Amino acid sequence: MGVDAVVASDRRQALEGLQPERTLTLDLVSPERAARQILRFALDHPLAAIVPSDDLTAEVAAIAARRLRLPHNPPEAARTARRKDLLRRTLRAAGVPTPRYRLLPPAADPQAAAQDQAYPCVLKPTFLAASRGVIRADDAAGFAAAVRRIRAILALPEVMERGGGAEEPILVEEFIPGAEVALEGLLREGRLQTLAIFDKPDPLDGPFFEETIYVTPSRHPVEAQQAIEATAAAAARAIGLTEGPVHAELRLHAGEAWLIELAARSIGGLCSRALRFGTGMTLEEVILMHALGGDAGAAVRTRDASGVMMIPIPSGGILRAVGGQQEARAVPGVVDLAVSATLGRPIVPLPEGSSYLGFIFARAGSPAEVEAALREAHRRLRIVID
Ligand SMILES: Nc1ncnc2c1ncn2[C@@H]1O[C@H](COP(=O)(O)OP(=O)(O)O)[C@@H](O)[C@H]1O
Ligand SMILES: [Mg+2]
Repeated sequence: MGVDAVVASDRRQALEGLQPERTLTLDLVSPERAARQILRFALDHPLAAIVPSDDLTAEVAAIAARRLRLPHNPPEAARTARRKDLLRRTLRAAGVPTPRYRLLPPAADPQAAAQDQAYPCVLKPTFLAASRGVIRADDAAGFAAAVRRIRAILALPEVMERGGGAEEPILVEEFIPGAEVALEGLLREGRLQTLAIFDKPDPLDGPFFEETIYVTPSRHPVEAQQAIEATAAAAARAIGLTEGPVHAELRLHAGEAWLIELAARSIGGLCSRALRFGTGMTLEEVILMHALGGDAGAAVRTRDASGVMMIPIPSGGILRAVGGQQEARAVPGVVDLAVSATLGRPIVPLPEGSSYLGFIFARAGSPAEVEAALREAHRRLRIVID
């Protein structure tokens, strides 16, 4: 796109010494501090846009962009979107369909709390992602077990380091049944443009909520898709988000689209590769074009059906091999396969884990063909875990 990019990260990059004007190391434990580091950098290297890549950096980017008078989301809105408890409070107050909830304080006795709880419910940390620590409970015993398991996750050093930690409450929500979808959108001056609606054809009923297949375009009726767009737009408005990408997750239940989550970022992992716009633009190009003040309004997804499978981690251990990759790639409709986990390294399934084994991508004439291709490719993989 002819734009110079500076990559900011919480780890010092190997080539930082060689090209100090191209990389920036941020202390992401404090969003305020990270934003100040960006402002200091910008004194010598003027920035035209700041594009966050995940929930935490969305808040950092919002703070820094406001000070630099660049197009931005209000920092409070970015914060609300990344804290599940703030998000629920904001959406319930605005009347957006979203689960009823309560907060379980860190010192609360799970046995006692389990008694006055309606079931089924979902327990989760307030600040993690990728379904990490999200657990369904159907009764008091399941509730107490989930609390113990989540508190153990919150006490992990690497989770404490992310600014949360053992002093964080646990969010307890009513379980909303129904088909789940994801909406990928772009906000421009507060208006939500839908870029894609993904169906999630595998049921997500718990006890853990492993993401697998995403397929677009949606096969839900037009009225359901309109409800999805309306709820996502109402949620963005209630949160106060105005600019840039959003990734929303919703459930179709009781004739309405219920908002599970809305993040001020684009879809995670490698999933964006399932999307192409206009004559072949990537989602990242659409986002950059918008951030730089260009007109991204014309970004229309290509017409073919497309999908991605996040390859689940079937069990914990050391990943030894992912066989059958050639056979999986040979499935008609499969366009790419990427194993992102490292051979020889430990892998951790949900609810403690937070990553996937890899990604399979497919394109075809219809969503059903895409889904079938993804399932067949996955079936051909031989995953070996010690
Ligand atoms: N209240 C709920 N009712 C039904 N399903 C839920 C609820 N909360 C979470 N889930 C399921 O768990 C998944 C992950 O939960 P979410 O809150 O989105 O956490 P994360 O940020 O880790 O994605 C959701 O996509 C959904 O399938
Ligand atoms: Mg989610």
